[in-house]
Amino acid sequence: MGGTDDAEPATAAAAVRRPRARRSPARAADAALRVRPVRQTDLPEVIALDATVTGLHKADYWQRVYRRYGVAGQGLRHFLVAEAEGRVVGFVIGEVRDWEFGSPPCGWVFAIDVDPRARQRGIGTRLLAGMRERFERVGVDMLRTLLARENTLLLSFFRSQGMTAGRLIPLEIRIGDAP
Ligand SMILES: CC(C)(COP(=O)(O)OP(=O)(O)OC[C@H]1O[C@@H](n2cnc3c(N)ncnc32)[C@H](O)[C@@H]1OP(=O)(O)O)[C@@H](O)C(=O)NCCC(=O)NCCS
Repeated sequence: MGGTDDAEPATAAAAVRRPRARRSPARAADAALRVRPVRQTDLPEVIALDATVTGLHKADYWQRVYRRYGVAGQGLRHFLVAEAEGRVVGFVIGEVRDWEFGSPPCGWVFAIDVDPRARQRGIGTRLLAGMRERFERVGVDMLRTLLARENTLLLSFFRSQGMTAGRLIPLEIRIGDAP
């Protein structure tokens, strides 16, 4: 997941299952929300949305992500957007990885972002549910992600989706440092 480079990450995992029912009546307002695969024409909005979180306008990076997860992403790679009233209000990116990190095939969520003006209305939940459904379709029963330990917002969100600390631990070294 995104976050600061120096952040200590934490892994989280969940069996693929339906999120709990939404509680707030305000979420009825999002009935018109649609979660669908990204299109090339969405990229300017995705780039702008990402910039609200990262502060960086990474057009080249997003073109590469689109080529890998948007155009080529069928079956195992997914780049989904949430659209409301013709506007992109969130996105999620994920991929099934086969027998990497010594694990049976599982679905990884790499990035999730909701427009700050549209948060806490169930959109993040809908995006993650869209990813869960796609992973389920190919027989995957585990969803994982990696996030910065101090990103309490993301941690609260993933926890609310039933995710808990997983059995993998991240290791890292600054390249060039002596072992
Ligand atoms: C995390 C994020 C995706 C949540 O999206 P959202 O649409 O607001 O999420 P939802 O409305 O579906 O919230 C689901 C649950 O998450 C938790 N949650 C959401 N926002 C929260 C907040 N500000 N504080 C605490 N918990 C929160 C709650 O448990 C909530 O359930 P509830 O409303 O029934 O209490 C969104 O806040 C976001 O994009 N944050 C920035 C993420 C980021 O850093 N991305 C870059 C790295 S990939």
